[in-house]
Amino acid sequence: MSAAFASVPKYKLNNGRDIPAIALGTFLGFDEHGMTKSQNKQLRNVILEAIDIGYRHFDTASVYETEGEIGEAVRMKIKEGVVQREDIFLTTKLWNTQHKREQVMKALQETLQKMELNYVDLYLMHWPIALNDDYTHSDVDYMETWRGMEDVQRLGLAKSIGVSNFNKEQLQRVLQEGSIKPVVIQIEIHPQIIQKELVDYAQSQDIVVMGFSPFGSLVMRYGMQFPGPKLDNPVLMEIANKYKKTTPQVVLRWLVDRNIIPIPKTTKHKRLEENINIFDFELTSEEIAMINRFDSKTRYTFPSFWQTHPHYPFESIENPIADPFVKN
Ligand SMILES: NC(=O)c1ccc[n+]([C@@H]2O[C@H](COP(=O)([O-])OP(=O)(O)OC[C@H]3O[C@@H](n4cnc5c(N)ncnc54)[C@H](OP(=O)(O)O)[C@@H]3O)[C@@H](O)[C@H]2O)c1
Repeated sequence: MSAAFASVPKYKLNNGRDIPAIALGTFLGFDEHGMTKSQNKQLRNVILEAIDIGYRHFDTASVYETEGEIGEAVRMKIKEGVVQREDIFLTTKLWNTQHKREQVMKALQETLQKMELNYVDLYLMHWPIALNDDYTHSDVDYMETWRGMEDVQRLGLAKSIGVSNFNKEQLQRVLQEGSIKPVVIQIEIHPQIIQKELVDYAQSQDIVVMGFSPFGSLVMRYGMQFPGPKLDNPVLMEIANKYKKTTPQVVLRWLVDRNIIPIPKTTKHKRLEENINIFDFELTSEEIAMINRFDSKTRYTFPSFWQTHPHYPFESIENPIADPFVKN
């Protein structure tokens, strides 16, 4: 067991199961050809390294096309005797084109075939938005989809179920109308979008929050620098120097200190180590407040091309970008 793993705590989910307090992200981003694909088992090798470093929780989605290599790495490490299946926590997500109740089980079965595993630990509805195969809007209600999510948990294909990119009202509705309570909500959280209200609400309902894109403006996104705090931001640097940590570590710790599971993504060995090495210090409430002050409600996952969908979860804007998926 590596030193890093020994120090990663776990949260208790509302169904009694455990979830590790940090997850490795596996969305590889975009390049000039569209979504970046893993070449020559690059991602599988990252997961193998990550398991050696101490990561036990991996975040994927059917739309990322990384499920197969994650499953392969996990199976290799089980075969090597490094871990057992129950030591690993796999989170994956249902895509928007498979929202009819009967499609949910089929979608998860396809995921499990790709992973060559019998179950996932956590299955999330990626968005409350249903789409047809051609990416036109579908009127399937997310509560119908939730029934399908409940089916796969009852069948044991997913040990737990939850939601992603839901707003407060949508989460409330799942709590009111669903039979199984979601264990997790996964949303975008970084210094520029602290999501105080939604985090407080979810945590008051005993729902664990996972925070994606934790580095916000600190890093390049879509090949660009966006306005907002950078790696050398003086406020973050001051805190980092105090604890002899880096500014990415401070931002990840800010999430942990709010009881949020950060999902940093990296494919680099040094950064895999850096990003998990955050469980030996703690920010003060004043330092947490200093980072909260960067909040400008800025999202980087902002699919405004879906904003006319009846279940679009976010605020609308005047000039939405064109849907890259719909062919004219
Ligand atoms: N539910 C959803 O809709 C949703 C949406 C978006 C993301 N997610 C999940 O959240 C994960 C993370 O989000 P993200 O990939 O958008 O953003 P992120 O983790 O905030 O940022 C990733 C970027 O930061 C760089 N990086 C990582 N560690 C670093 C460090 N210590 N110092 C400097 N740079 C560092 C990475 O580069 P290198 O790889 O080159 O190190 C990569 O370019 C995704 O992979 C995915 O699993 C979920």
